[in-house]
Amino acid sequence: MNVADIAQTRYTTKAFDPAYTLPADIVEQIETLLRFSPSSTNAQPWHFFIAASQEGKQAVAKATTGPYAANEAKVLNASHVVVFCTRAAIDEAHLQAVLDKEEADGRFANADGKAGQHKGRSFYVDMHRFERRDAQHWMEKQVYLAVGTLLLGAGALGVDACPIEGFDQKILDDVLGLREKGLTSAVIVALGKRSEQDFNAKLPKSRLAAETVITRL
Ligand SMILES: Cc1cc2nc3c(=O)[nH]c(=O)nc-3n(C[C@H](O)[C@H](O)[C@H](O)COP(=O)(O)O)c2cc1C
Repeated sequence: MNVADIAQTRYTTKAFDPAYTLPADIVEQIETLLRFSPSSTNAQPWHFFIAASQEGKQAVAKATTGPYAANEAKVLNASHVVVFCTRAAIDEAHLQAVLDKEEADGRFANADGKAGQHKGRSFYVDMHRFERRDAQHWMEKQVYLAVGTLLLGAGALGVDACPIEGFDQKILDDVLGLREKGLTSAVIVALGKRSEQDFNAKLPKSRLAAETVITRL
């Protein structure tokens, strides 16, 4: 496998085959990609909703109205639709849950190791909460890493994908009851198989030249 080939052949699918459903083992790999995405201090400030049923996709599609109507068919015709959510707050209970899971997963040789990890993570978290006051923005950056992980991973799995920022965030938050869950929606990724109508599949990809975006020191 050449990862550069995947980067150059994966693309944003604009029309999905509504008759296609992703196989269960592929969905399982996609869930693993989401869970194992890296995040600063391993804070994992996210939650993923995965709509596979028609009912679930219709609920998500309620947010693709008005100026976002061009995205409605992508959500409805995809096999699976992932809604990436950011935590509304990064609080002590979440940090403790992450720490306890790290301990259960065998990350710490002793209590000092566990305390050191908590102190280090809290340093960064508190910096974003109280000094920079950009905790929400910082958490959303981590969520976008999961988007990138999924898009490249989907390409490697031969799954077509469409990342979608074009949706009404307030509607989606209301539909999924996110405020009550302490979450906000950030971005959607529709997954499935391209249809014959997908004009974008036939277009060449376009990126700025290497000399423009890369400086080798
Ligand atoms: C975060 C993000 C949000 C995007 N939102 C939309 C969207 O709402 N609708 C859409 O059709 N494409 C959307 N795109 C697709 C981009 O236009 C596309 O990734 C870009 O033109 C590069 O093309 P490629 O993905 O085919 O390589 C989005 C892409 C990203 C990364």
